[in-house]
Amino acid sequence: MAEIVKVAKGLENVVVDKTAIATTSSSGDLLYRGYKAIDLAEKKSFEDTAFLIINGKLPNEAESLRFKQAIRNNMKIDHSVREIMKINKEKDLMRNIRSMISLYPYAEKDQQGLFLKMDSIIPQLSSDTHNAFNGKPYKDGEGDGYSDTFFSMISDGKHKDNARSFQKLMILYMEHEFNASTFALRVAASTLTDPVSAVCSALATLKGPLHGGANSEVLEYLGSIKSKDDAKNYVDEKILKGEKIMGFGHRVYKRRDPRAQFVKGELKKIAPDYDLFQAAEAIEDYLWEKKNLPANVDLYAAILMKFLGIDESFYLPVFAASRIYGWNAHYFEQVNNNKIIRPAAEYVGPENLTL
Ligand code: COA
Repeated sequence: MAEIVKVAKGLENVVVDKTAIATTSSSGDLLYRGYKAIDLAEKKSFEDTAFLIINGKLPNEAESLRFKQAIRNNMKIDHSVREIMKINKEKDLMRNIRSMISLYPYAEKDQQGLFLKMDSIIPQLSSDTHNAFNGKPYKDGEGDGYSDTFFSMISDGKHKDNARSFQKLMILYMEHEFNASTFALRVAASTLTDPVSAVCSALATLKGPLHGGANSEVLEYLGSIKSKDDAKNYVDEKILKGEKIMGFGHRVYKRRDPRAQFVKGELKKIAPDYDLFQAAEAIEDYLWEKKNLPANVDLYAAILMKFLGIDESFYLPVFAASRIYGWNAHYFEQVNNNKIIRPAAEYVGPENLTL
């Protein structure tokens, strides 16, 4: 019998495979294919970063234009599907995104092409689901690229000048090595299931409040924090009850989440006096003092999106619409060098029961 290796619960600090897509470097930076994610957010477009994640290199001019056009071509939803959504009237955007993506023809031979279709469709799917549920007309996005078009569909239209800040956030949400949803996708891919099924596993995993779901829960408490004392009282009470504060803590970043600090810097530039921003800073300072817990990206992402006039129901779909490009790269990295992911468990139940 092969040697048994026991690892930490939650696979904490366990390296399970190799990846060339992204890493958190020893200096605490998040790298996409070797480049700092924050540099890409500052200097590159969403599409060029997505191309890099998927193909391992930045595109040249012709590749960049072709890739952008391919995404644009795949962003639109069929009239017939829109009619189904009107009848269906689903409130939960993530549930509908998952259901609609599960209808893609999974047996398609061109798996890269199939992935690109799924990569491009989440903006319109979320916007249409929201509008169908609220009895509003469907809205076609406008804008030069993927994130600008998405932004035009879901923001209140008063912050067009800040579309680039939204794009930066989407770039930072794009990839994060073996996070829970990507790992779920890789487990599915390792069975050699199709891309559609693997993406559905990832979408289902992303939704949980300890993962992507945190960003829509942040605003539930921030609005009531009006002073440093409020922040202190809130944190003390949560710690006393042994409850988690959404938007804080991270499996990998124990001192500083570079994405959180980048988005915080963005908010400092465009909304320094925003009350939610000040409330977040007060909690961040106190939680660090009290428990050495850093803010994670979801804290400042939620505030940025709120400031940009985006309804909370879109926060998680925004994350999904970015991270799906990372999933795309991981699917092929897994299947191209595959071994089925099938760990074992230590059995602690009864044995030898008789009937
Ligand atoms: N609020 C309060 N305490 C927290 C906390 C939070 N958000 N995150 C971690 N802690 C505490 C834990 O209670 C634990 O304390 P203890 O050692 O006194 O028992 C310690 O910090 C370690 O936390 P743990 O949950 O074991 O870390 P993890 O690596 O397993 O989990 C997260 C990481 C992200 C799941 C966790 O930090 C969390 O639940 N955060 C809130 C949800 C969130 O914002 N998710 C988005 C992540 S990008």
